[in-house]
Amino acid sequence: MQRLTGGRECLTSHLSPLTSHFCFGMYENPRLLLDSSNPPEPGHITWRSPSNIALIKYWGKYGVQMPRNPSISLTLAASCTDTMLEYEFLEAADDGEIDLSFYFHGEENEAFKTKTLAFLESLLPVFPFLKQLKLTIQTGNSFPHSAGIASSASGMSALALCLCSLEDALFGTLKDPADYDRKASYIARLGSGSACRSIFSYAAVWGETPAVPGSSNEFAVPFGDELHEIFKNFHDDILIVSQEEKAVSSRDGHALMDGNPYAEARYAQARQRFDVLLEALRSGDLATFGKIVEDEAMTLHALMMCSNPSYTLLRPNTLSIIEKVRDYRTTTGHPVYFTLDAGPNVHLLYPGDIIHEVRAFIEDELKEYCEDGYIQQDWVGEGPEEI
Ligand code: PMV
Repeated sequence: MQRLTGGRECLTSHLSPLTSHFCFGMYENPRLLLDSSNPPEPGHITWRSPSNIALIKYWGKYGVQMPRNPSISLTLAASCTDTMLEYEFLEAADDGEIDLSFYFHGEENEAFKTKTLAFLESLLPVFPFLKQLKLTIQTGNSFPHSAGIASSASGMSALALCLCSLEDALFGTLKDPADYDRKASYIARLGSGSACRSIFSYAAVWGETPAVPGSSNEFAVPFGDELHEIFKNFHDDILIVSQEEKAVSSRDGHALMDGNPYAEARYAQARQRFDVLLEALRSGDLATFGKIVEDEAMTLHALMMCSNPSYTLLRPNTLSIIEKVRDYRTTTGHPVYFTLDAGPNVHLLYPGDIIHEVRAFIEDELKEYCEDGYIQQDWVGEGPEEI
């Protein structure tokens, strides 16, 4: 095992077209190459990584997946991706392309393979050893692929963790857990912005803010230690209103923020809400938590409706559920709140001590608005695990 450091210069000359306009800063390391006279044994690494649900939303970006405002999310437990990365040293390593086989739920998947290959090739300045290996990725989600639950956060974080574990297995360079997490979060961010928050247990903050020392636009930082106990026992039942693919992707939605006349006001509002929410998360103030989380969901979709061109991802049943949740809260006083991703499905957030009441409410009053009555039950979790 070789211990390597350094490699901090920015070598843009050999980058693929995908990345030729930026460098990886401290993570670019041309010295992470295997010694062919002492090749590693074949091996495999498997990570299970969860999705996350944003409370303050990341919507609008610049550069390479850099957020326009800080965001904070709860890490989920049940909605996750398992990814196994198998590797074998290639005797006659071809300098050019990465040798990758890709299986999704046990079947070869060309579309996912092409996307993953492009991503891995863009990462060659960070992990140059990838082109010295024959790689096989076997991946799958714990929820139906077509369920309308975003799998990019769980999928990209699982892949990033496999890559960092592979680097550490081959070179011993990521022994420090904090360094490891930071790099995994950085790599996950490049795959899908919000994926960088899935690396951490309970909750994570992504985006530079004076409210969280050490926070960065380049990677997320843990917030679990600061979370009030009540939020560690929170549930997120995801009410699947529609399983259809979104008419406008998140990528295009982020891009439309650039011409949105409300963009600057939105970024300022997100910062202000972020500071207030942080206090509520620390103190266990459910009413403030719920107010901000619901306002964020509505703002996210309002931004879509006033983009140019405008669009809406909400469905009539999304609004019916929202009305029912508000009525239920007024009549029962139970702290049940909704939030939304960039899609029509409703995330119902509530503390574990009222699970029986809320599950009965879902069964009696909300299930009828869900496609095929499908509900993905989830809860706040401890983050990724190597399996
Ligand atoms: O990570 P992306 O590019 O899929 O964007 C995620 C955007 C939201 O889910 C709407 C908000 C968030 O912060 O997760």
